[in-house]
Amino acid sequence: MSAINEVCDFLQACGTYYLATVEGDQPRVRPFGTANLFEGKLYIQTGKVKEVSKQIAANPKVEICAFDKGVWLRVAATLVRDDRVEAKKDMLDHNPSLRSMYSETDDNTEVLYLKDSTATFSSFTAAPRTVTF
Ligand SMILES: Cc1cc2nc3c(=O)[nH]c(=O)nc-3n(C[C@H](O)[C@H](O)[C@H](O)COP(=O)(O)O)c2cc1C
Repeated sequence: MSAINEVCDFLQACGTYYLATVEGDQPRVRPFGTANLFEGKLYIQTGKVKEVSKQIAANPKVEICAFDKGVWLRVAATLVRDDRVEAKKDMLDHNPSLRSMYSETDDNTEVLYLKDSTATFSSFTAAPRTVTF
């Protein structure tokens, strides 16, 4: 399995992961759930009105942390906003519950893909394993 598929599967299996941004010298972290593979890239979704969106716009370097069945994953990446309707539509089609709050044609919905990603799987029982995509 490719690295990006492995990371996407892990995030989807977790259901909830934690997305860290930076605001000046202050780390910010919150729960996230969206993870969607589109055109070979791993996308997440948010709303432009949120603080998290503003933080990413000011500094797109983020880190994701997730934990499932004794294994934790950290992904350091740079996020790239994709304003194309088709990228938003694919995200919403795969996460239909979001359609009560978002649409691919509103002014708020934002999807971003991970670039220059370094993902490390760790556990207490095995050496860390790092993949990139
Ligand atoms: C389980 C769970 C999953 C969530 N997934 C997302 C998500 O994928 N995208 C999003 O924008 N907000 C998501 N949220 C809501 C954000 O955590 C929330 O809006 C948060 O306050 C955003 O960060 P901010 O306050 O720094 O802007 C989720 C919340 C929970 C509890």
